[in-house]
Amino acid sequence: GSADIAVLGLGVMGRNLAANLADHGAVVAGYDLDEGRRGAFAAQVGNAVPCASVEDLLGALKAPRTILMMVPAGAPVDELTAALLPRLSPGDVLIDGGNSHFRDTNRRAALAAAAGVRFVGLGVSGGEEGARRGPALMAGGDAEALAPVAPLLAAIAARAPDGESCFARVGPEGAGHFVKMIHNGIEYADMQLIAEAYHLLREIGGCSYERLADIFAEWNGGELASYLMEITTDILRTKDGETGAPILEVIRDAAGQKGTGHWAATTALELGMPAPTIAEAVHARCLSALKDERVRAAEALAIPHVPSTEDLVASVGDALLSGRIAVYAQGFAVIAAGSRQFGWDVDLAAVARIWRGGCIIRARLLDRILTALNRAPELPNLMLDPDIAGLMTHGDAGFRRVVAAATLAAVPVPAMASALSYWDGYRSGRLWANMIQAQRDYFGAHGYERTDRPGMVHTEWKGA
Ligand code: 6PG
Repeated sequence: GSADIAVLGLGVMGRNLAANLADHGAVVAGYDLDEGRRGAFAAQVGNAVPCASVEDLLGALKAPRTILMMVPAGAPVDELTAALLPRLSPGDVLIDGGNSHFRDTNRRAALAAAAGVRFVGLGVSGGEEGARRGPALMAGGDAEALAPVAPLLAAIAARAPDGESCFARVGPEGAGHFVKMIHNGIEYADMQLIAEAYHLLREIGGCSYERLADIFAEWNGGELASYLMEITTDILRTKDGETGAPILEVIRDAAGQKGTGHWAATTALELGMPAPTIAEAVHARCLSALKDERVRAAEALAIPHVPSTEDLVASVGDALLSGRIAVYAQGFAVIAAGSRQFGWDVDLAAVARIWRGGCIIRARLLDRILTALNRAPELPNLMLDPDIAGLMTHGDAGFRRVVAAATLAAVPVPAMASALSYWDGYRSGRLWANMIQAQRDYFGAHGYERTDRPGMVHTEWKGA
């Protein structure tokens, strides 16, 4: 065969990645079960080799063969992997570019290794536009597995503002999908912070949509600049095609989710690494989805929202930036914990580097994060970096004012409040956990450590 790479699964992501690969000079073979999608692929992708079966597809490839699977995560990847492995040869590279769970990727990488096939778990971010014009690519796999495909992946990836490619090998087996999962956790939490900022400024700040769009546009010109801020500004200015009303007025306030945010939160829990704002963002989507219950409760348990008399706009900007920093701090801490747990040796600076372009969470803040990680690669928490801590301290008063004002006005700000508690908790040399330890020892004789000498002790509590 003559094709450089095969794309298996020609949905929105597969087809656009194929077109991107073709733009970079690759001859791309493509197959999908769906005939319509095969047609769309042949029509959209230049220099394409449309195939009528998996057999055809494998025959169309140069050796060693590179196959990029772009099928829905879960059973479809397992079925395809099982079907492909016996037909592949040692040295062939099988790439999973879906949002697979990293544990599934660990398992499949082992299966592939047993068959002599090289496996890459590729985290792809940036949606349709990213796939077409340049996504962020977080690759997991053995260095030898990645070597033959790295130049092509580096070429199709987005560029960061400084021109660097947003592709990197972040570790072996499931490390790429792990990093993508945490990317999505950060995505959920940053989206939630932005949604709370918008909601709060409408509910108690009395801002019109036009005013909000101007505020977000201004923020997007400064330290808060990010892709999510940019699309939020656009959304705030958009009118419904049918009614002419601001589009947000006609969108039902019940959020969907496909599961990667949930994975990020449960993985943080499993690793024992706090990521409360990521978890809170998942809870907030779940709460929003109880729309009918909420509407009933709103009647039964109504609390009026008290408009704020102070101008909260600047403070909400502080809350957004501080909240975003806390969220990135949580995300990077979970990646570091996962890297230790699984022995992956993930380069955190490389993660910051490739998240600066192409992906949904690309943000100006990542420049500072990258600088911080270059300065101190072993930094246990981003909030300990003097530059980043400076931003947090600078916004501290405003951050507090916003959470307080929202709380007094009975407007929920779960992500902001959780980020503030994370910041306060992390900076507390002494917490309440002495009481927890006492209670555990009281009812369960679990023992506790003393402050004045090492070792576990137990108290004979009065009532126990
Ligand atoms: C990306 C996104 C993407 C994700 C969707 C849907 O980085 O391009 O994270 O991979 O699948 O945004 O996520 P939810 O449906 O869970 O919101």
